[in-house]
Amino acid sequence: MRMYDLIMKKRNGGTLTADEIDFMITGYVAGEIPDYQMSAFLMAVYFQGMTEEETLSMTNAVAHSGDMVDLSGIEGVKVDKHSTGGVGDKTTLIIAPIVAACGVKVAKMSGRGLGHTGGTVDKMESIPGMQTSLTQEKFFEVVNKTGLSVIGQSGNMTPADKKLYALRDVTATVDSIPLIAVSIMSKKLAAGSDCILLDVKTGSGAFMKTVEDSIALAQEMVAIGENAGKRTVALITDMDIPLGHNIGNSLEVIEAVETLKGNGPADLSEVCLNLAANMLFLAGKGDLDSCRDMVKAVIADGSALERLAAMVEAQGGDVSVIRDTGNFAKAPYSHKVVAKKSGYITFMDTEKCGIASAMLGAGRETKESTIDFSAGIILHSKVGDYVEEGMEIATMFASDEALFAAADAKYEEAVTIAPEKAKEEPLIFARIT
Ligand code: URA
Repeated sequence: MRMYDLIMKKRNGGTLTADEIDFMITGYVAGEIPDYQMSAFLMAVYFQGMTEEETLSMTNAVAHSGDMVDLSGIEGVKVDKHSTGGVGDKTTLIIAPIVAACGVKVAKMSGRGLGHTGGTVDKMESIPGMQTSLTQEKFFEVVNKTGLSVIGQSGNMTPADKKLYALRDVTATVDSIPLIAVSIMSKKLAAGSDCILLDVKTGSGAFMKTVEDSIALAQEMVAIGENAGKRTVALITDMDIPLGHNIGNSLEVIEAVETLKGNGPADLSEVCLNLAANMLFLAGKGDLDSCRDMVKAVIADGSALERLAAMVEAQGGDVSVIRDTGNFAKAPYSHKVVAKKSGYITFMDTEKCGIASAMLGAGRETKESTIDFSAGIILHSKVGDYVEEGMEIATMFASDEALFAAADAKYEEAVTIAPEKAKEEPLIFARIT
């Protein structure tokens, strides 16, 4: 077999066999196929696409390029969830404890912030002492004891994805639906859960900017999951507005705790209710309506919040910040962002909101940057709200006052104020099974 022939086959619109795809991925990870040939192949996929069989074969090959996590040491059905990334997306910290409180285990590997989006692992590390890197033995022990554990990706998982992702990043081949589907689903298959709920974000703060593209991506990923023998469902959820009111690491943990107490913002609470109910549904706990009732019950009786506290404690975190979020270290400086004119907020460029928060220290500028856990933004007014000129529409937090001017300017660019109220968009656009 020759990589040259496989590139030509794909370039001409042909379909690769599973053996051909295995040859290519194995050879690439081993360093036998050079980046320039793989780049040409990726570009051919970008234009020609891949069939459902090819996408599944490539996902399997990438998943098996490294360690496959075996969760059989944890009793019961294990359900995973993946968000394609957004701004203010603290849903894992809310729904994992909810699902655990309903008796379904969550043994989850999460990511760090990427670009303008935040990452669950960074948010968890804003809790003093919290460990996000556990041995497999400890990971299983925490899940068996508390019903859940969320950690960073460990070991040598999906090395092919790491190499391919870095190459796609510099060859203009990131935004290919089959390649994104392969990248995400290979990691989900390697992570070992029985069922997968996908939260495909759509809008200005998401990877996929249109509902049509988000649905196409979700359909590909659900097909891969089901063909790989995992029960898989996707929800297409809104990321055209930051989710909830808080952006930034400890600020998002605080909002997650409030939501678990039943006091969360309406949009975040509604999205979490549906995500958690779908995870329970996938785990066979009942129909969606009864799963929604279970979610409401474990919020109302406080058991979901107790699960979060139990996981934090088991992973070495200071549980006093969960019991009283006033114990989180506060940023030394705050800054009022005011409306520059009166009218309705009609649009918030959510990517720019995420960048503004990162500029305050909540995200990384380079791979080496450290995160300021207390930095971020609290949004007081969002799309649909009427604001008066000079009114405080957001508060920014940082450890260096000099950061406010540029972040304020970025936030001003993000927010559109107009005389007419914009049409309300749904929070959940579709459910793909
Ligand atoms: N997230 C991933 O893990 N991979 C992609 O290709 C895109 C988003």
